[in-house]
Amino acid sequence: MTSRPTLRLGPVAIALLAFVAFGCAAVRNDELVIGEFGSLTTNDATFGISTQRGVEVALDELTAKKEGKIGGLKVRMVVEDDRGVADEAATVVQKLINQDRVIAVIGEVASSRSLAGGPICQQAGVPMISPSSTNPEVTKKGDFIFRMCFLDDFQGWVMAKFVAEDLKLKKVAVLKDVKSDYSVGLANYFTQAFQSMGGTVVLETSYSAGDADFRAALTSIKAKSPQAVIVPGYYTEAGQIARQARELGLKVPLVGGDGWESEKLIEIGGEAMNGCFYSNHWALDAPDPRLQDFLKAYREKFKGDPDAIGGLAYDAANVLFQSIDQLAAQDPKAFAGLSSSKAGTDERKAADRKLRDLIAATAQYPGVTGIITLDANRDASKPAVIIEIKDGKKIFRTSIAPQSKPA
Ligand code: PHE
Repeated sequence: MTSRPTLRLGPVAIALLAFVAFGCAAVRNDELVIGEFGSLTTNDATFGISTQRGVEVALDELTAKKEGKIGGLKVRMVVEDDRGVADEAATVVQKLINQDRVIAVIGEVASSRSLAGGPICQQAGVPMISPSSTNPEVTKKGDFIFRMCFLDDFQGWVMAKFVAEDLKLKKVAVLKDVKSDYSVGLANYFTQAFQSMGGTVVLETSYSAGDADFRAALTSIKAKSPQAVIVPGYYTEAGQIARQARELGLKVPLVGGDGWESEKLIEIGGEAMNGCFYSNHWALDAPDPRLQDFLKAYREKFKGDPDAIGGLAYDAANVLFQSIDQLAAQDPKAFAGLSSSKAGTDERKAADRKLRDLIAATAQYPGVTGIITLDANRDASKPAVIIEIKDGKKIFRTSIAPQSKPA
């Protein structure tokens, strides 16, 4: 009989093993860790990059004004790339919560990824603020989920109103991305609104994110002779769709939603984008001094203009900083629980809930993307802007207020 050597561990080894196993959960009590998740690579990489940049400008200001601290504790960001994949969004949010022990999460941009990450934050009781996910379902995942932007029922109506009343068109086709909750939802909201205004959708057809050849769909669209094509998808596909539409002799305007908002849109679509329109969260030339200060800081740091996501992420970070600051001032005991390493304890849970309540109470916050007041559903109600692409430039065309939408 062979005797197996017994493994005997001393207290040091046990401590070491415990550190390896749980060391990742070792949280310092002298800092506040905030998580951020987004697509930093692949198809919609500008979404994640813009988020990160907007947050960095907010952090720079915190550093300049308060040595980067809130309530005496240093703020540290942990940024995760989900590569534009919903499953990976869920994985990285899990990691931010379990391993980095973040006190709040900023993200995602794309609704499908916010829908994947949101329930994990909700389950853990960690507040999540999406800068820019517009699908109504996102904040319905629970009372720890917030957003800084308008919703797609409003955006779809805005697009329909613009097409029906400004462009005065009656017959359109819709080309949506079936893989995106955002695109599917926005296509529906547009169609409902457009039909209620007396318009007709002569054809609705689809593609899947990541496709590169849209000619078959565009050929069937062309056969129906619409006066415009509604493309409620993201910029990479929208740019390619525009190019291929023009190649096929389909010359009518394409109309998109905020998913077109990227510096890459015109790079990808080129001249084919001229004469197209999309709805967006802001226009850079608004005379708001806060916006102009933000633009100055952003341009100095990144040598270029931010897109709307950069502005919304900057607002998300500042709303979060403000809420943490209020917690530190109003309830130092709860604040201590928030930053303690005892995540999952009653103390930490009570602190998380208090932070949630403070974010939920955000009212009349003067953001660079407009005034932010969160309603009972943790959503913001803000105007949408229509951008026209002319000679390769994005021109402000009109702004449509939420108050003008019939109930
Ligand atoms: N609103 C889009 C969505 O929900 C994301 C987006 C916002 C894209 C702003 C670009 C600009 O999926």
